[in-house]
Amino acid sequence: MLALCGGLAVWLIVVGTVYAVLHLRGRLIDLAGPIARDQAVAVWQTQSTFLVAIAAFVVGVIATAFLLVARQLRSDELLARITAEKAEAERARALAEAGLLKQERFSVLGKMTATVAHELRNPLSAIRNSIYAVRAAADGTGITFGRPMERIERSIARCDDIIRDLVEYSGGRDLRPRPVALDAWLAETLDRETFPADIVISRRLGAGRAIVALDDGRLRRAVLNVIENACQAIADGDPNTTQRAISVATLANAEAAEIMIEDFGPGIAPEIMPRIFDPLFSTKRFGTGLGLPTVKQIVEQHGGSINITSEPGCGTAVQIRLPLEMAKRRAA
Ligand SMILES: Nc1ncnc2c1ncn2[C@@H]1O[C@H](COP(=O)(O)OP(=O)(O)O)[C@@H](O)[C@H]1O
Ligand SMILES: [Mg+2]
Repeated sequence: MLALCGGLAVWLIVVGTVYAVLHLRGRLIDLAGPIARDQAVAVWQTQSTFLVAIAAFVVGVIATAFLLVARQLRSDELLARITAEKAEAERARALAEAGLLKQERFSVLGKMTATVAHELRNPLSAIRNSIYAVRAAADGTGITFGRPMERIERSIARCDDIIRDLVEYSGGRDLRPRPVALDAWLAETLDRETFPADIVISRRLGAGRAIVALDDGRLRRAVLNVIENACQAIADGDPNTTQRAISVATLANAEAAEIMIEDFGPGIAPEIMPRIFDPLFSTKRFGTGLGLPTVKQIVEQHGGSINITSEPGCGTAVQIRLPLEMAKRRAA
């Protein structure tokens, strides 16, 4: 733009000067008449020289101004680029530092959780064994413990769940992936677990021969956390309208395999949707709020992604995408 304006100005001055010089010559000769023609030409030469000198001076000034402005702009641009690069480097450094700090905190948290979990599991199993012994001793005596004993057992199970969630979330151990056929693995995982008897879990496993590099224990935890949430949502739903069913489906394309877990429970309210992956966020009375953050962590450790969609009153769909083993090798 600047170059265009400068060029235009110079061009106008040159054309204007040439026109003025020629026009001046004609005017002087016309005015002088045939007798004083030589004198008029001499005047014209002096005036033309003067005019051309002025024009050259103006062109020079414009060119110098143009060069100075262009230089200034170039140095401004350079300065802006250096500032942007510096800001970017600063941001990357801050990010790396934050990552390191997070890693360090996670490692401390992991160690602490492992120690606490170990210390708590021992007394818990002592309580469990004692209950078993008390039950055995009471067998045949007609003594029934009823609800208090059930409460103790429920509380132990709850403590177990809390410890498990904490260990899974803060453990963050390195993955030990191995290539497995996704459908066969998922079918076996579902077969091994027991789910509430009144909830139907249907399967549509359509990933064919898709092979995924997965850490059996970690990914199993992720899938079970999602199914556990679905079961709890169904249990919390209106018993008259909630369909007691969960659908587990898989599919695969050339690059990735997908596990889709859908329930037809009460769904997730839009206002809490942005928080469901926040650690410790829970809408449940006894929830740890570590289930979904753990699922996200595990899926991302596998190089995959998780997406949750929900319609209040209709249900929730959790989509887990995992890269295929072959696609991974191709990308490497
Ligand atoms: N299938 C689901 N249906 C309805 N709400 C869900 C579902 N899955 C997750 N949520 C919501 O997300 C929150 C966080 O889930 P999660 O991290 O597993 O923690 P927790 O289960 O301990 O509450 C839950 O408290 C619940 O509000
Ligand atoms: Mg949960």
